[in-house]
Amino acid sequence: MGKITVVGSMSTDFVVSTSRKPEKGETIIGESFEMTFGGKGANQAVAISRLGGHSELVGHIGSDIFGKGILTNLEDNGVGVSDINIAQGIPSGSAHIILSEQDNSIIVVEGANACTNKDWIEKNVGNIIDSEAVLIQHEIPKEAVETLINICFEHQVLCVLNPAPAREVSRSVLRKVKYLTPNEHEVEALFPNVSLEEALESMPNQLLVTLGERGVVFHNGKQVVQVKAYEATLIDTTGAGDTFSGAFTLAITKGNSLLDSIKIGNLCAALSIQKFGAQGGIPLLDNLKKDPRFEAHWKL
Ligand code: RIB
Repeated sequence: MGKITVVGSMSTDFVVSTSRKPEKGETIIGESFEMTFGGKGANQAVAISRLGGHSELVGHIGSDIFGKGILTNLEDNGVGVSDINIAQGIPSGSAHIILSEQDNSIIVVEGANACTNKDWIEKNVGNIIDSEAVLIQHEIPKEAVETLINICFEHQVLCVLNPAPAREVSRSVLRKVKYLTPNEHEVEALFPNVSLEEALESMPNQLLVTLGERGVVFHNGKQVVQVKAYEATLIDTTGAGDTFSGAFTLAITKGNSLLDSIKIGNLCAALSIQKFGAQGGIPLLDNLKKDPRFEAHWKL
């Protein structure tokens, strides 16, 4: 199997856990603080690698101490880092997360991730077109994402877009993506003033909407199909969507059916929310295979 190139963000997640969020102008005492590794691109690349795939991450870290930590963590997780560049004098990306009431709120500061721009992508296209699949998110500039989609389409490279966080993408560009994995908020940004059912119907077997504990919905050309989520003991939902996108992309490139690839993504996402941190619960292939819900015919 060839490499899956993830073009995207890397960051340090600064996570505060609190019983409730402060009101405007209010200061409250939180429960704990932790720094973990994150960034949607990094999380997705780690998911692919932990599940036994060959993932290469393309992007930028800053020239600060956080960048060094990000790089080491990726190497420790078996992610290819030869296309990660250091943006001199620029801080690494960061995410500021409040964990509260079994959910999260996140502010992302792009930092060096903004350097993965259109010009840079055009100069580094060679590393992208020899991939079996390219996985992209919305934590790099919009023009870079559109350029990548066009390049993949031109060179017939399977392209998966996890359009997170929510941002508009023109219809003509969207049509060139093989699979889209928005959540229910992100799908509204992609298809404004359109019902979920209409959006699904307009992109059969392509638009896969993740609905958290309600699983994933897509249209199979005849009807809307709901693929149930697996039960899990919720600790932290951060990164569940990234785990789904990474696992799904690996599964589809391994020749699983669309339905099985979604189920594999769902099971990995369920396991991921049972541990703290965006990458904390992403399963290793051995652990996934030990899960009684793993189906023997799944190819991983
Ligand atoms: O999807 C989760 C990720 O979003 C976190 O790791 C954080 O870095 C933000 O980018």
